[in-house]
Amino acid sequence: MDNKESLTIQLNDIEYQVEPGQMLIEVADDNGIEIPRFCYHKKLTTSANCRMCLVEVEKAPKMLPACATPVMDGMKVWTKSPKAIAAQKSVMEFLLINHPLDCPVCDQGGECDLQEIALGYGADQARYQEKKRIVKDKNYGPLVATEMTRCIHCTRCVRFGVEIGGIAEIGGTGRGDHMEIGTYVEKSLSSELSGNIIDLCPVGALLSKPFLYTARSWEMKSFPSIAAHDAVGSNIQIQTRNGAVMRVVPLENEAINELWISDRDRFSYLGLESDDRLTQPMVRNEEGKLITTDWQSALEAAVKGVQAVVNGAGGSALGAWTSPSSTVEEFYLLQKMVRGLGSSNIDHRLRQYDFSGQQEQRSPRLGITLPQVEQQNAILVVGANLRHEQPLLAHRIRKAALAGAEVSSVHPQGVVYNYALTQELAVDQLTPTVAAIAKALEEMGKGSELSGLSALTTNAVVEASHRVTAESLLRGDQALVLLGGLAYQDHNQSVLYALADAIAVMSGATLGVVTEGANALGGQLAGAVPHHGVAKQVVDSVGMDLGTMVEMPPKALLLMGIEAAEDLAEGAVEAIGQSEFVVSIAAFADEVSSRKADVVLPMAAFTETSGTFINMEGVWQSFQGVVSPKGEARPGWKILRVLGTLFNLDGFEFGDSESVLQEVKQACDAMESEGTDEEITSWVGPADWGNSSATAASGVAIYRGDALTRRSQPLQQSSLGKAEQHQHNEGATA
Ligand code: SF4
Ligand code: FES
Repeated sequence: MDNKESLTIQLNDIEYQVEPGQMLIEVADDNGIEIPRFCYHKKLTTSANCRMCLVEVEKAPKMLPACATPVMDGMKVWTKSPKAIAAQKSVMEFLLINHPLDCPVCDQGGECDLQEIALGYGADQARYQEKKRIVKDKNYGPLVATEMTRCIHCTRCVRFGVEIGGIAEIGGTGRGDHMEIGTYVEKSLSSELSGNIIDLCPVGALLSKPFLYTARSWEMKSFPSIAAHDAVGSNIQIQTRNGAVMRVVPLENEAINELWISDRDRFSYLGLESDDRLTQPMVRNEEGKLITTDWQSALEAAVKGVQAVVNGAGGSALGAWTSPSSTVEEFYLLQKMVRGLGSSNIDHRLRQYDFSGQQEQRSPRLGITLPQVEQQNAILVVGANLRHEQPLLAHRIRKAALAGAEVSSVHPQGVVYNYALTQELAVDQLTPTVAAIAKALEEMGKGSELSGLSALTTNAVVEASHRVTAESLLRGDQALVLLGGLAYQDHNQSVLYALADAIAVMSGATLGVVTEGANALGGQLAGAVPHHGVAKQVVDSVGMDLGTMVEMPPKALLLMGIEAAEDLAEGAVEAIGQSEFVVSIAAFADEVSSRKADVVLPMAAFTETSGTFINMEGVWQSFQGVVSPKGEARPGWKILRVLGTLFNLDGFEFGDSESVLQEVKQACDAMESEGTDEEITSWVGPADWGNSSATAASGVAIYRGDALTRRSQPLQQSSLGKAEQHQHNEGATA
């Protein structure tokens, strides 16, 4: 701290140097001095309405709320003086007047701020003998349960909606004793972050509906883990009882997810116990039926079938498709096995169509850290529905926008932002608009060094909106061009990438890339792509990407973590149908595998296996399995280790997943020390403008992106889930 600017205050007779503008409660928190509070929350604006944080301040005629009292030089404050304690106890008594005191039947029991603070500041006998008020519960939908009689009107949930969620869905009506908190019109919450109000509510008024009355907080064990649905890598706690996952809550990590998680990360665990979990290995018998068998027989059948194809048609007749949410260890072992068998036909870019720029493109990284996103003063989002793709990255960008950043977006129709954009370019095709922004920068004299760019921009028509967007990037001394998942699903992905890269170079911005799944960057670094090996090692021959494999289906196909009917680009299901031998390693039954797979190997879900995800910033985060795999399912890395050994391949003698990780890490550390990856300084170069009339992809709905999320009934029944289900069904019948 700069001493010239610091102030000196006394807190409980001890001197502290503090920063001007700090509130007393912040100084107390920084120095481990406990002040009770209900309405104050460090991530929300101050409302100072509960008065629980009253403290004694020298020369002040009354007790002052510590959350709303700024420090002043020479101030003397007592948090535990007789006067302060008496004030705090009075407030506690007042708050408990209308509280039902139903802790024994309240789900918040054992983790309730009110219960805990009442122990310290409450009286053992109530003086209030009159009737307590009763408030009718509100229906917030399938994710959040309400017991509004318990509400103490702290307004944390209201402020969360306005300040963090970006949707003012909850508010207070009435005054005094008649005040009620609720949605203005009775309706389900629609924010993708709505579950965070459960954690924020300091009493048992807002609760997890799916978790309601299933376990008490003290019965559960908590394990740290990493969320498996997007590239943020949110830190979570998985809470278990008797070997079953009971609940998922956030784990605070200011550098990654602060203390929030998306509803997808919070409630997807409810799909774990789905009836169609695969629990036993299966092989297809001579009558064409899948029958359950033991592991040894299933593994031998898989090896025999693949080996027969490889022996007959060569290694290149083998292909492997894996989920972008596979772990680093799974990606690595799968590519090692496929390459060991003489093939480079491996891909995890399941919904991509255009791979023509893959050799030039860098791995999908944000290019800056998540906290740095908030410091950007100009952002151009190209081809993304960020609130659905990466909800907590969208939240960081919203924070930047609210702090004054100019945010522009080129996206397909139907993408909804929860703040005002500088330029909203909702279009039918992404490429012409992105080309026009690039051309606007060229016309400003910025593109002279990018040879080949004019070939991409020559037909672009520059309008005022494109110039405004270009100018806003030029104005920003910290600017970000962000290419999202919809751009990756576009039939012109390579052109979009080249144009976005050119815009970044011309405007001095960072190019950030975020694509689908929890670990797309891990997939690239671990070598689960056809054009390079682990740590971007050059391969002797480039294998077939997913698009080419769809056109020329490999005779033998390994599928890992894929529900084919939902997770793949168009045409891929038909390609599976044309393969002669298919092995599916998956956690859930799927209609295509049931019909087509010759061997089905049941795989553990992410809560049941150890592994590592690399988030969009490039942060490696490992996690452990917290419950046993269901039935006879096995962790993916173990299945691959055994398969590799049965194929008589070298280098599969791993005792644990950590040793697999070490092998990948060593290769990646060597790559980074050689600087062969990710230096975002120069344009990747021109690409052919392929299918120029391609309609922009509408993307994958927020609760339909992976097999686990699709099986979480509360998510599917939420207002977002229902709207998506409706669209999905319409698409299926169209
Ligand atoms: S419902 Fe909970 S968070 Fe919302 S105002 Fe009431 S006590 Fe506060
Ligand atoms: S915490 Fe300070 S008034 Fe509520």
